[in-house]
Amino acid sequence: MPKEYSDIGLIGLAVMGQNLALNIADHGFQISVYNRTTEKTDKFIAENPNTPGGLVGTKTLEEFVKSLAKPRKMVILVQAGRATDAVIDGLVPLLEQDDIIIDGGNALWTDTIRREKALKEKGLRFIGSGVSGGEEGARFGPALMPGGDKAAYKELEKIWNAVAAKVDRKTGKPIPGAAPGKPVKGGVPCATYIGENGAGHYVKMVHNGIEYGDMQMICEAYAILKGVLGLKAAEMGAIFSEWNRGALDSFLIEITADILKQKDPVTKKPFVDIVLDTAGQKGTGKWTSVNALDMGVPAPTIAESVFARCLSAVKEERVAASKILKGPKAKSYTGSKKALIEAIHDALYCSKICSYAQGFQLMREAQKEYGWKLDFGRIAQIWRGGCIIRAAFLQKITEAYKKNPRLANLLLDPYFNKTIQTAQANWRKVVSLAVEHGISVPTFSSALSYYDGYRSARLPANLLQGQRDYFGAHTYERVDVKRGKFFHIDWPDAK
Ligand code: NAP
Ligand code: ATR
Repeated sequence: MPKEYSDIGLIGLAVMGQNLALNIADHGFQISVYNRTTEKTDKFIAENPNTPGGLVGTKTLEEFVKSLAKPRKMVILVQAGRATDAVIDGLVPLLEQDDIIIDGGNALWTDTIRREKALKEKGLRFIGSGVSGGEEGARFGPALMPGGDKAAYKELEKIWNAVAAKVDRKTGKPIPGAAPGKPVKGGVPCATYIGENGAGHYVKMVHNGIEYGDMQMICEAYAILKGVLGLKAAEMGAIFSEWNRGALDSFLIEITADILKQKDPVTKKPFVDIVLDTAGQKGTGKWTSVNALDMGVPAPTIAESVFARCLSAVKEERVAASKILKGPKAKSYTGSKKALIEAIHDALYCSKICSYAQGFQLMREAQKEYGWKLDFGRIAQIWRGGCIIRAAFLQKITEAYKKNPRLANLLLDPYFNKTIQTAQANWRKVVSLAVEHGISVPTFSSALSYYDGYRSARLPANLLQGQRDYFGAHTYERVDVKRGKFFHIDWPDAK
């Protein structure tokens, strides 16, 4: 017997919306759903007649709003940007004081800040929640990054905690076993209040930037295994499976192993060999990189992963250039295969540490800019389950920030410092080898440059300041005078 009013509502029945609605219903909450194209709603309801909480299909926004218990809670999962604004504009005249709108799409955090402010002025409450984990996550347990009105989140928390992925309290390991109608019980939910206004969407954006980095780094490891060692896809698949049992244990390494082992159903050739090498993008990696530039935070590895996709996209130009531009002469690798595989593993791990260090630096700077109080250890913990970047390694980040919440940079944490100390010779060897073989490794090499730059007490920017002073009278500071005093020479002064 359905309840008179649903516990929550959801608008947008595409991939994410349908799966999250089923997840919410699985946990015993009655959920009303609405989609702009009504046939989708009808089909969805018809296909899912028996869920523990119950689904209520609605054909108009009015009907949708009327079906919700007050104060109303409604999740929007439509295309980020204009579609989200259109849905909010449609909802506002129908809502009452204190109703709560939750945007679960991949909104730009500045849009979330704007929406929260505008809705607050109308007496409505707004939560911008990152939802990570794609289709599978939405269905069986995503990582949820809610930001915005804290009191409103308290009212949503029960549902968000119930549907989120769960990790073991002590080890931080994801708790498996969710299935339709059989949600995970126990464990720490991968959902936590992130901070005010756009904080949740900001953290989700950085998550995506880190995801871009992780994906590109794995591709570079693959490129070296293939280009230097000449390994076949299935052999590389086995290596990634092996790596997934160690420090690199993660969802992306696991699926990479599966993808490399996959055969193309048409030709029976390795699947990766028939896939065109042009990567698409939806823009969240770009947003992260643009924001890094705006705030002046070095995040070169994340940015390089976006540029790598851009370079991959100019396929025709690359094919033409490949006939004109020559690289080093092909030479065979004569060293130990086992040692090189281990070195590539180490290069991937060290690069990953630097990429995450950059992502966390970004969040640290953003919290200053926007007045948020981010709990970095908790953020790493909620990324341990449900989301695309889930990885054993995140537990080390949680531990690092637990030990020292004011850690200036992840690289300075004793575990990460020691790991890089031990592995950096291999990392350097792999980057050198890739350069010698003419293999493009933008994230491996930029991560290494970031590491070397960050650990340098003196960089060549002294000369750069000289140049700026020369051509633009931009002034310079001196090493022998307290900082904050600026000098200028009347150029040209060299004798
Ligand atoms: P999507 O393709 O981004 O959006 C499609 C949905 O938006 C449909 O329900 C569509 O309704 C609705 N829509 C589009 N324009 C609209 C408008 N002007 N007014 C009302 N509704 C409108 O769907 P998705 O892939 O499920 O993603 C939903 C959100 O989650 C997005 O913000 C996305 O970035 C984010 N997200 C996606 C993933 C993923 O793996 N796909 C993962 C995490 C987060 P109609 O059926 O009527 O066209
Ligand atoms: P997650 O948090 O699970 O990573 P996501 O950020 O939305 O979710 O992205 C997961 C994957 O789905 C990414 O490959 C993303 O594409 P980009 O790499 O180009 O960013 C893709 N994705 C995101 N939104 C999508 C949409 N509306 N339609 C199709 N694919 C989408």
